Amino acid sequence: MSAAPPDGSRGVEELLSAARSRLRRVSPGQARELQHDGGLLVDIRPEWQRRDEGAIPGALVVERTALEWRMDPRSQERLIDRYDLPVVVICSSGRSSSLAAACLQDLGLRHATDLVGGVLAWRRDGLPVERTGPPDPAEVLGEQREYYQQRAADYDAGGERVRQRMGPEVLERWQAEVDEVAAALDTLDPRGDLLELASGTGAWSRLLAPRADRLTLVDGAAQMHAHNPVAAAPNVRTIVADLFEWDTDERFDGVSFGFWLSHVPDGLLDGFLAKVARWVRPGGSLFYVDSHPLTGHRAPVAGGDAALQRRRLADGREFTIVKAFRAPGELSEAMHRAGFAVQVRETPSYFQYATGLRTG
Ligand SMILES: C[S@@+](CC[C@H](N)C(=O)[O-])C[C@H]1O[C@@H](n2cnc3c(N)ncnc32)[C@H](O)[C@@H]1O
Repeated sequence: MSAAPPDGSRGVEELLSAARSRLRRVSPGQARELQHDGGLLVDIRPEWQRRDEGAIPGALVVERTALEWRMDPRSQERLIDRYDLPVVVICSSGRSSSLAAACLQDLGLRHATDLVGGVLAWRRDGLPVERTGPPDPAEVLGEQREYYQQRAADYDAGGERVRQRMGPEVLERWQAEVDEVAAALDTLDPRGDLLELASGTGAWSRLLAPRADRLTLVDGAAQMHAHNPVAAAPNVRTIVADLFEWDTDERFDGVSFGFWLSHVPDGLLDGFLAKVARWVRPGGSLFYVDSHPLTGHRAPVAGGDAALQRRRLADGREFTIVKAFRAPGELSEAMHRAGFAVQVRETPSYFQYATGLRTG
């Protein structure tokens, strides 16, 4: 390898000076004024930098790799049609933006320039930035509830479609694992005044109702109760409520929750379990089932918290929900802390489950 630069090549500093010699670079305050007067701020930073440093309100985001194609008025993929538009290219510190702005001038955008010091200078000057990227899991709980309200009518059919796709052999294994979880519930044999949280369309309510003197179903979606086959049974009571807010002075002989705890964000888990523990008399039963971390995973929200997922309805609407996968040991400990003597177990592929008693 030779350290001598090939003839005719230019170092990056030289490229930068050449680019800047063509630009009338602007300060953050000037960029903001240009924006107010109809100019376009173009943020070329990658997603992770926008997340770390914040986004400039009103700026058009065009990552560097797509810039020329989006900004050339001759391109099929153009976002602008004018050559005379004042354009201020912005990066993190104001270096790659200079090279990028010179490229835009080569395309004919004669008023293209860049922001001196980039977003870091913009922030230093006290100009506003917005948070970008995925929300905190606790912020999507309303959206999660709405998703299930909208999904209730198709919830069972959706599950059936997934099973159809499994093929007979996989379906047989899945059924064997369902049977293992149901057998654990049989062994626990919860009786008396039972409470089921996030009961949905009743996959587990139908196993609980015949054992209960009274079964109380709490779900955030009235539509879910409407599709729950045991909701109208004489020993069943339904409550529509937000489980992050709902509370009661009643004490139950047992509590159950299927495919719910993974929708509780980490930051709220201990508080939620402590509340559940208050609803159960000492010696009362707990039944828990949820997705196995291996098979429940789907692509998390882009670039973000692994405990957030995007879910899409048949009509194309998309929602962000919480889906937190926890190791059996971690969850057992959380349940112990709340006052339940349980051991979280897993079937080979599909489920995580636990049965146990309220201590104290
Ligand atoms: C994955 S489903 C589980 C349903 C059922 N337990 C099962 O195993 O099929 C999650 C349930 O949580 C309910 N839910 C979502 N957000 C809620 C909230 N904030 N409060 C109460 N229920 C909520 C939904 O309506 C839905 O019925």
